[in-house]
Amino acid sequence: MAQLWGGRFTKETDQLVYNFNASISFDQKFYKQDIRGSIAHVTMLAASGILTDEEKNQIIDGLTGILNDVESGKLVITDKYEDIHSFVEANLIDRIGDVGKKLHTGRSRNDQVALDMKLYVRDELLEVKKLVIELIKVLHKLMKENVDTYMPGFTHLQKAQPVTFAHHIGAYMEMFKRDLSRINDIYERMNYCPLGAGALAGTTYPLDRELTAKLLDFKGPTLNSMDSVSDRDYVIEMLSAFSTIMMHLSRFSEEIIIWNSNEYQFVELDDAYSTGSSIMPQKKNPDIAELVRGKTGRVYGALASMLTTMKGIPLAYNKDMQEDKELTFDAIDTVKGCLALFTGMISTMKLNKANMEKSAMNGFTNATDAADYLVNHGVPFRDAHGIVGQLVLYCIDKDKSLLDMTLDEYKAISPVFEDDIYDAISLKTCVEKRNTIGAPGNEAIKKVIDLNEEYISNLC
Ligand code: ARG
Repeated sequence: MAQLWGGRFTKETDQLVYNFNASISFDQKFYKQDIRGSIAHVTMLAASGILTDEEKNQIIDGLTGILNDVESGKLVITDKYEDIHSFVEANLIDRIGDVGKKLHTGRSRNDQVALDMKLYVRDELLEVKKLVIELIKVLHKLMKENVDTYMPGFTHLQKAQPVTFAHHIGAYMEMFKRDLSRINDIYERMNYCPLGAGALAGTTYPLDRELTAKLLDFKGPTLNSMDSVSDRDYVIEMLSAFSTIMMHLSRFSEEIIIWNSNEYQFVELDDAYSTGSSIMPQKKNPDIAELVRGKTGRVYGALASMLTTMKGIPLAYNKDMQEDKELTFDAIDTVKGCLALFTGMISTMKLNKANMEKSAMNGFTNATDAADYLVNHGVPFRDAHGIVGQLVLYCIDKDKSLLDMTLDEYKAISPVFEDDIYDAISLKTCVEKRNTIGAPGNEAIKKVIDLNEEYISNLC
């Protein structure tokens, strides 16, 4: 047991208590951030006249040595230490002697861990951002390539009106653009440095908190020391944004699973992104899409768990907050893994355009357009709806599509129909006539693609 405290205790900590309390098994994940924060702290301590330059340099050399040795595997982080902060400080003292004991001047583990977690989350937000951008680029490519790929659009999973694959993908494009903007917002809001808040009430040392914030690339210091050590709002916001990303990935996965099924055959997943069955030789399963859908629950769970952990905590720091780490780390790793795999999966899947188009041709996806035809010829919409309902019933009975009906058959139901009905309800017309902003028609979708092109060129 290696702890940073013990002076006021007369007994050793019970081993079970020690194990229960310790966080080294998971907070070692941010050893880099912990060392980075410590280097900034001593740099500030020296600039503020609290440490000499000589002391600062010795400490920074020691910390850099620890970082290099951990990275190279020469120094292994073990559970002999209570947490990552104790590990770094104890190793520093071993390495450089008593001067290492000055590292923690004007600092508490409360503001230290608040900083480490913020640095970690900030780094990871940027990683997730990169992955969302990769996905957005793949979606953009799919849109550009598929402005003329017709497919049925669905409501209630029933064929509704024809759209294009570009348009369908464009819906997800908008979702992931919003996800990206949420990440940017969270990053901006959280980007204030808590170091210097001390245990909860600041310190009596003349710390230059502006300098610490600057050294660590924050916009500035946080403004209330009690809030600084007990704020985990940004973790909750991140988990909420990540839950939304997972929700989007999960819906998309569900569609891919449906499209990849034998019944639909709209897409075929690449062999490299599919798995087989141990008993049924013919199977090629969309396991990746299913796992993404399944892992969504883990990320939602992290959000619910974090909200619950925080809800009853009096100010300022309480040990409950240690619970922020494992679930957050798991959620971050899950989201990163899912985004990367999902992007790989959709960029390698084959589109079966002929099947999509065939499917759009049947199922009466042009029924609305037949009704609109009648409206354009003076029939009130409600009556037109009724007439086309009769046409559909007739076609179901005769097992044909609206395009297969003869003009006589049309006229038997309504004399308003003329020869131009066929063109008015062709798949191409149904899509291409829809050119209002955000609609699937070529003209409309190309405008959106141009806007997206500009949006992407302005990213990072
Ligand atoms: N392991 C702790 C955490 O994750 C670090 C802070 C400990 N502070 C304290 N006063 N015990 O929250």
